[in-house]
Amino acid sequence: MAFASSAIEALCSKQRRFFTTVAYVRNKLQGIDVLREPKINKGLGFTFSEREQLKLKGLLPPSFRSQEEQEAAVMKGIRNIRDGLLKYVYLKDLQCTNERLFYRVLCNNTEELMPIVYTPVVGEACLKYSYIYTKPRGLYITAEDAGHVSSILDNWPEKDVRAICVTDGGRILGLGDLGANGMGIPIGKLCLYTALAGIPPSTTLPITIDVGTNNELLLSDPLYTGLRQKRLTGPKYDELLDEFMEAVVKKWGKSCLIQFEDFNNANAFRLLKKYQNKYCTFNDDIQGTAAVCVAGLIASCGLTKTKIRDNVFLFFGAGGAALGIADLLVKAMVEDGLTRIEARSQIWLMDAYGLLSTSRTDLDEQKMRFVKDVKHTSDLEEIINMAKPTALIGASAQGGAFTESILKTMASLNERPIIFPLSNPTSKAECTAKDAYLHTDGRCVFASGSPFDPFSFGGRTFHPSQGNNAYIFPGVALGIIACRVHHIPDFTFLVAAKSLANLVTDEYLEEQRLYPPLHCIRDVSLSIAAKVADYFYSESLATVKPEPTNMFDFVKQNQYDWRYD
Ligand code: NAI
Repeated sequence: MAFASSAIEALCSKQRRFFTTVAYVRNKLQGIDVLREPKINKGLGFTFSEREQLKLKGLLPPSFRSQEEQEAAVMKGIRNIRDGLLKYVYLKDLQCTNERLFYRVLCNNTEELMPIVYTPVVGEACLKYSYIYTKPRGLYITAEDAGHVSSILDNWPEKDVRAICVTDGGRILGLGDLGANGMGIPIGKLCLYTALAGIPPSTTLPITIDVGTNNELLLSDPLYTGLRQKRLTGPKYDELLDEFMEAVVKKWGKSCLIQFEDFNNANAFRLLKKYQNKYCTFNDDIQGTAAVCVAGLIASCGLTKTKIRDNVFLFFGAGGAALGIADLLVKAMVEDGLTRIEARSQIWLMDAYGLLSTSRTDLDEQKMRFVKDVKHTSDLEEIINMAKPTALIGASAQGGAFTESILKTMASLNERPIIFPLSNPTSKAECTAKDAYLHTDGRCVFASGSPFDPFSFGGRTFHPSQGNNAYIFPGVALGIIACRVHHIPDFTFLVAAKSLANLVTDEYLEEQRLYPPLHCIRDVSLSIAAKVADYFYSESLATVKPEPTNMFDFVKQNQYDWRYD
């Protein structure tokens, strides 16, 4: 991997010092105001001479801490807290107090802290968002702002916004409609933009479009912070979303990325289709999920000694996640030499009403693409015996659906059966990692949506893989922002998936890992960003000219640096 030369590093460091000083001088900040500005505050990291110059003496305890020591103190503080939500609140407070320290802590302790700023703790934070809300973060656009959304965007203090993450709170994780409390999601996702891909925080903007909520518990809660009305639907909802998209382009240009997050399924697919070719937008729940799963399936070929086109996939569940994955899988198989019809014939899906078969009359166009002309049944085992899948993928939220008998049937059909119970949270996983390995004599190739701890079986240690979307979206976003594209084709996510799969070394495969370990995730994001940028240039989608000679240096060049000096 190529990195910027030390000369560039030195120049950047000099520039940083210059800009920091300029920020203090230009803002005429002194005394307590310096400590109240999270972008420039260093807390105990201010040297004694800086404290003298900036009139900070007496406003801080008399000791000095290097940034490294500050990180150690924060981590000690966090580890002393037992409750996940309190850890979240502690980190949120740090982010609003000393931004550079917050990102240093998050970057250097990603594995430990990602479950707090992101799933699962962020879910709990969203449930209780109205009670833990203390400081402003992100932008709220409400149904009542229809007709003047632009003026709300004008209130955002940053001039150069490159990436927005937006939710309407319609389906927050597996927790349903959380209305305005969903704000924790775009905030958390954008923290990962910075921590995992180095995207400067000042260029990112979390937005909640509050169109009301159908969650009666929230509506009847006097402390709920959102609009107290049922969800806006129909043309009025669409007009508000259209106005929002237009207002973003007008203010920050066509290349401002808008990531959709946790809209309910019906709106998610509809809006993606509507906006995909018109705006610089993607939906992580659909496209990011698909990419991370397809990456795992491509990597699994290293263990099954097959090509992706040789496989037959059976999806248990045919909702948003499964259909998004199935569509990207078709692209991967076509890339590997099959026709689209052949690829679809090797992808089987079933939902709560059974197999997607020709005899069904309740299927929409998206599902119709995958119907099979065979006897209709709702029995998973019977479908397995008909389809003879090499891979069984669960996206049904039906915990325990992959029973011992199902797993044994998969093991009887395949030397290395691929078993992906993707449903979240852990209680909804179609099977546990232990059960999957146990009932397939340790032969299965496994990845799940929720994390499972490593465990030993038959004298070997297994590291169950977790298909975490964080492997994909920060890197894809970095590539998009660097190239300033105006729209994002679906194929981008196959490029990202292949790039992620390529990072799975023989050593990882030996440990049965289908994804690199989480502590490598920043390097993963860079590699994905560089590949995605390559693709944008090859398709003439990048608007930054001339084409860079080194894509790694190119995507790295505007990365955020949390160091003080
Ligand atoms: P969804 O509600 O759109 O789809 C659920 C599907 O399961 C529907 O097709 C439904 O008919 C089917 N289903 C329900 N009961 C069934 C049964 N008894 N037999 C067969 N099918 C049944 O939900 P979505 O968004 O597709 O998510 C599904 C699961 O996947 C969730 O648990 C979600 O947390 C998980 N997921 C995991 C991701 C990851 O690991 N990166 C990303 C996105 C979703």
